[in-house]
Amino acid sequence: MSNDNTPIATFSHERLETSNFLMIVMILLVVAIGGIVEIVPLFFQRSTTEAAPGLKPYTALQLAGRDVYIREGCYNCHSQMIRPLLAETLRYGHYSTAGEFVYDRPFQWGSKRTGPDLHRVGGKYSDEWHRIHLLNPRDLVPESNMPAYTWLNAKLTPTDMAPKLRVLRMLGAPYSDAEIAGAAAAVTDKTELDALIAYLQVLGTSVR
Ligand code: HEC
Repeated sequence: MSNDNTPIATFSHERLETSNFLMIVMILLVVAIGGIVEIVPLFFQRSTTEAAPGLKPYTALQLAGRDVYIREGCYNCHSQMIRPLLAETLRYGHYSTAGEFVYDRPFQWGSKRTGPDLHRVGGKYSDEWHRIHLLNPRDLVPESNMPAYTWLNAKLTPTDMAPKLRVLRMLGAPYSDAEIAGAAAAVTDKTELDALIAYLQVLGTSVR
């Protein structure tokens, strides 16, 4: 330390530690390098960029349901990411892998769990169970504090779907021309509730 009057060398550690400006610049530099080293490889690793075996892009109906899920804010209480911890895999099933989310834009991982994780809820209950549960959770789980979603009986707008599929195809989801052409018909006369249930029923089913 310079308790004495020796002048501080131009590039000494002491100069760095006594200058707020230099300290901030160097911290930003170190964090940037650390970030680049950790994050950039993820863009090139097959395990994080390629679809898990058996994973299919959402059908038009499931995609419409996903939009309802996001609009209604289900993610505020439900995560979709099972961590590789025994307590979680025993309760929810196989832990989530990055390749299962490559068609999710945006992904719904989350960290807030007022309710259970939903990543592998697909196939766990019948469609009818979901219908009753969404309309009034307390009919099935008396102690539930999940809201009742009684307003999801609106019909979907079929013309919305083809453009959505087309955009997702541009971003890498392998939709065929036939799927895009049939998107409107696939949701005609379906309600938001039908779509939401179709979405819930496919969650996490590519890994079994
Ligand atoms: C205020 C928090 C909250 C919100 C918002 C919420 N839930 Fe829930 N959810 C819960 C709780 C708590 C449970 C556990 C009790 C139960 O089954 O009702 C639950 C359970 C569930 C289950 C059963 C999971 C299982 O494995 O048993 C499903 C499916 C579900 N929610 C779907 C949804 C959907 C879809 C939405 C949005 C439309 C939603 N939740 C919004 C709190 C919430």
